[in-house]
Formats: sequence, structure tokens, C-alpha cells
Amino acid sequence: MESVYDYYKELKKIYNFDNDYAETAIWGHDIFREKDDDFFISQAEKYGIEISYIEKKSPLLLHGKIAAEYLKEKYSVNSEIYEAVYYHTSGYKFDNDTGKIMLICDALERTRDFEGVEYLREKSFKGINIAYKLIVKNKIEYALKKQLFILPETVEAYNNYISKI
Ligand SMILES: [Fe+2]
Repeated sequence: MESVYDYYKELKKIYNFDNDYAETAIWGHDIFREKDDDFFISQAEKYGIEISYIEKKSPLLLHGKIAAEYLKEKYSVNSEIYEAVYYHTSGYKFDNDTGKIMLICDALERTRDFEGVEYLREKSFKGINIAYKLIVKNKIEYALKKQLFILPETVEAYNNYISKI
């Protein structure tokens, strides 16, 4: 979480924004990241989260959704923070910057090392929207290349920005 927040601080220096919602989302997005599969499944059931067949195969994917539900239950976080945490891995058709900033910081924090990460970091210093779009695109391209599942929320995020072009 520390490195994600550090990246947020880098962006903050450039854009001069003060997004308390993003800071809260970053603080809470991975609180359950280290738990095990049984935990993810039981908590998802507890919160009434519909578990997809992809999540059944990889319950870790549920960690953001569970964290969002927990933060809402415990701290009554608003919908912007809730969505940012809920979809921090997949992306979403966000209509505000909080979710985009959350996803950018999580995807590009300095301990991440994947092909093209430096290019995406450069883009993240040029504009939030463009960086967000490129990261979503990259997630899809990566999944195709590696023959991994593409989460429906990621496809939705992609379609959402394509529809605005
Ligand atoms: Fe996460």
C-alpha cells in the first residue's frame, strides 16, 4: 500500500490535486490482499457479492470487492471511494477521477515491473484520462497475449471509453 501511496504523491506533485477520496481508497484497497481463498469466498458470500466463474477459479480477484464492502459497512465510505476500491484491479466505467487515480497508482507504483510500465508512467504524468485508458488497454492486451481471463469489468471499461471517441 505504501508504494501505491507514493505513486499518488508523485501524481499529486504534477497535477496539484488534493483528492481525499483517492487517498482513502488507496489506504483501504488492499486491506484483505493477503488473506486466503476460503476467506475471499466466505466474505463474498457474506456480502452477497455474485461470484463469477473467473473469481471462483481465482478468489484473490475478490479482494477489492470485499474491501469496498467492508469500508462501506465499517466507515460508510461514499460511492466514489467504494467504486474505486471495488474495481481497483479490473477497471470500470468510472465517471470520476477517483477510480482512475486509484487504478493508475496501483498499476504503475514503482515496484511494478512489466513490459511497457515506463511508457505508461510517462503517460500518467501527461494526463489522468489517457493513462487510465492505456492501462485498461494494456490489461486486455496482456491477457490476450498470456491467454488469461479478461474480466468483464475491464471489457466494460474499454467499451466505455471507446464509445466516447
Ligand atoms: Fe489489490
